[in-house]
Amino acid sequence: MRIVITGGAGFIGSHFIRHVLQHHRDDTVVNLDKLTYAGNLENLADVADDPRYSFVKGDICDAQVVDRVVAGADAIVNFAAETHVDRSISGPQDFIRTDVLGTHTLLEAVRAHGVERFLQVSTDEVYGDIASGASVETDPLRPSSPYSASKAGADMLVLAYRRTYDTPVIVTRSSNNYGPNQYPEKIIPLFVTNALDGQPLPVYGDGRQVRDWIHVADNCAGLDQVLRQGTLGEIYNIGGGNEVVNIDLTKAILRRLGLPADLVRYVHDRPGHDRRYALDCAKLRALGWTPRTAFDDGLASTVAWYATNRAWWEKIKSGEWRRYYEQQYKGLG
Ligand code: NAD
Ligand code: DAU
Repeated sequence: MRIVITGGAGFIGSHFIRHVLQHHRDDTVVNLDKLTYAGNLENLADVADDPRYSFVKGDICDAQVVDRVVAGADAIVNFAAETHVDRSISGPQDFIRTDVLGTHTLLEAVRAHGVERFLQVSTDEVYGDIASGASVETDPLRPSSPYSASKAGADMLVLAYRRTYDTPVIVTRSSNNYGPNQYPEKIIPLFVTNALDGQPLPVYGDGRQVRDWIHVADNCAGLDQVLRQGTLGEIYNIGGGNEVVNIDLTKAILRRLGLPADLVRYVHDRPGHDRRYALDCAKLRALGWTPRTAFDDGLASTVAWYATNRAWWEKIKSGEWRRYYEQQYKGLG
């Protein structure tokens, strides 16, 4: 297959590119990425010289670039998005532009070029929070933030294209990913790198919110399985089955690093903060997929990766990140 992967310079997209190149010798990959603050070609340094991989710097909202890149592709996997909930609260425009309009631009290119499969990488956040039980693919969408509303809008468009134009689409909805190369604005890389620097860990609200964590390698295996074996027009949840309370996660990170709990700072809550997510993944499991990484092992190897790859995150934290951090965490001692 010739696969166009959008947003491949980001966290999950870069792992997915590596996964495809390692597991499918006959595939070629074109990575279309705008290189926003979150895009980082260092994430792909080890595959940059692979003759089956190429990179195009471009915006998924730019129909001309998209047209050029998509011509001749067998499949598109759309990772490109603005992804951080807190940034969507302070500035929603880019989220609506990239996550909704960008997806629409790609869908038009799928139609124009007869691409055989379009995989939309979505999120469990489109279901909104759930007090008990687990979200299934047929549940209604109740997004809470501008980020999740934008992702839900994209999901709706993708599914409407299936019904109206018979466009060959599939949607996946993953839970919270963790692992190497995650931009240090998300809780795990932010807290691990802050802790490594002896800086406080800002826990929102009462810290009792729950997220279901999946190692990025398990998510990539699930995405790949859906890309190749999923049924067109269907939605597949991809969750790790590791529900963890934020404050427990925070203390586990500190314990791993042998640091005291007094680095924890309770700060004011995220507006509209979803309390709990959980996914029912029976549909994907029926295709033979199962997550393989035990959360304790995955957290240990992830903490170790940030501890031994300081150069990767110190460079990020010395740039645009600092302005963002000061704005987002005003007054954090
Ligand atoms: P990320 O923020 O690490 O990377 C996003 C990538 O998209 C970056 O490389 C960025 O440069 C690129 N990009 C942004 N706008 C673009 C545009 N207009 N045109 C082209 N490229 C653009 O994101 P991530 O955490 O790797 O998430 C990837 C996808 O997975 C997103 O669609 C996200 O909604 C979804 N998702 C993420 C998680 C998670 O826990 N991280 C969970 C579920 C779903
Ligand atoms: O659930 C999937 C989603 O997971 C993805 O769609 C998003 O792209 C991804 O960013 C992630 O969203 P979350 O909002 O769940 O992730 P984040 O790491 O921002 O926050 C995780 C939890 O930790 C959440 O309850 C908020 C809390 N938190 C986060 C930060 C950054 C804190 O308490 N303090 C913080 O400083």
